[in-house]
Amino acid sequence: MDESTLMSIVNSPVNLLGVTLCLALLGASIYVLRGWMRSSQNDEQEDQKRKRLPKMKKRDFYVKELIPYNGQEDERILIAVNSKVFDVSNRGRDFYGPGGPYHCFAGKDASRGLATMSLEPSSIKDEYDDLSDLNSSERDQLREWENQMKEKYEFVGRLLRPDESPKEYSDTEESSGVQE
Ligand code: HEM
Repeated sequence: MDESTLMSIVNSPVNLLGVTLCLALLGASIYVLRGWMRSSQNDEQEDQKRKRLPKMKKRDFYVKELIPYNGQEDERILIAVNSKVFDVSNRGRDFYGPGGPYHCFAGKDASRGLATMSLEPSSIKDEYDDLSDLNSSERDQLREWENQMKEKYEFVGRLLRPDESPKEYSDTEESSGVQE
């Protein structure tokens, strides 16, 4: 293609419109991309500003002792799942903190709610729940939730039956791996 053919293509009104549209689109894309990059930087700064609570010393809990750890009375948020207590304060605050979609589980034994996929108040009890009426698929579901929690959150201790006594954990034993 010689130079005069190229110029006649660029100079034709239809093609000029195409080139202008392309440039406008490119400009718009760059604008959107820069805005997106700036907002993800802000998110990171927000995360860093957000205070991370230190690990808590390991301890066992009776169900009523969990109640204050709901992210309001105490900044820390604990949740029991299948008799294990997890600290969800740091990575889970958006889910379980005040205003979060699963705040109803904060400071509670979430086992029945998670096993039956229910957020109803009747599934979240302040009394010890032995879960003996759950069927086998609900039990499987609950074990899956427990595994997911173990992967993501700190294990703090065990949820005690009313007739059980708390275990003594050593001072140096911080919340870490789950002990069955
Ligand atoms: C319309 C129904 C629902 C939708 C669309 C939905 C959607 C979601 C989504 C998108 C997440 C985030 C997943 C992630 O980023 O890892 C999530 C997390 C979660 N969902 Fe739901 N959900 C629904 C119902 C329920 C119900 C009924 C329950 C419990 C009874 C439930 C319990 C949870 C819990 C506990 C988490 C947080 C898990 C964690 O700590 O990582 N969800 N849900």
